[in-house]
Amino acid sequence: MTNDSFTRLLSETKEDFRGYLQYMKGLGCAGVGLSENSLRILDGWCKDAMAETLDMIRDDLGDCQRCKLHKGRRHIVFGVGNPMAKLVLVGEAPGYGEDVQGEPFVGAAGQLLTRILRAIGLTREDVYICNIIKCRPPGNRNPEQDEITACIPFLRRQLRAIRPRLICALGAFASQTLLKTNTPISQLRGRFHAYEDIQLLPTYHPAFLLRNPSRKRDVWEDVQKIQEAYEKA
Ligand code: URA
Ligand code: URA
Repeated sequence: MTNDSFTRLLSETKEDFRGYLQYMKGLGCAGVGLSENSLRILDGWCKDAMAETLDMIRDDLGDCQRCKLHKGRRHIVFGVGNPMAKLVLVGEAPGYGEDVQGEPFVGAAGQLLTRILRAIGLTREDVYICNIIKCRPPGNRNPEQDEITACIPFLRRQLRAIRPRLICALGAFASQTLLKTNTPISQLRGRFHAYEDIQLLPTYHPAFLLRNPSRKRDVWEDVQKIQEAYEKA
């Protein structure tokens, strides 16, 4: 059975059962809890069972040719880490090393990111790491609008599947794209913004820190806010 027909069956079964309970309630039956709350709980069961998993999203992405970046790529860089992470880190797009290895943030910027995580008591395995764009733009040029439009639905679905409590957007591109704003990263960073119902904190990109080490102090302040929220989440 395909995922679609399974989901439809599940949904129909739920509707049948819900209708039956409502009918019993109409007859005056009070033998089982038939409050609105019970019915809401029933809806919740179904929602959890119908939620997409990261594997389903990866399968749907397939050997993606939805934009021109597929022509030059070696690997799709989908994302790595804990599928139930409380914290997701989102970068821009794969670079050379990421394209070769198929994993995000494995180059010099990635090593710095791993050290930043360790400084707040986290490992790469605790969190989920991904990018706005899943294929390397030639020569690391900025992603173009048609590429963003083709790719970002997959990131949005990944975020819905993981349901993290916190997102850390790395750099101007990820922050501005997720928050749908042109405000400079220097003004966005350092405080929480809302992405759907998730708290999103923008900070500078680790590759920017490699070129501008004096900004490490800002990032240190930003990630301490993440650590504090993480411990409460
Ligand atoms: N820079 C990014 O934005 N993402 C990566 O995966 C690597 C470098
Ligand atoms: N510009 C960017 O694109 N990212 C940063 O992190 C800082 C400046």
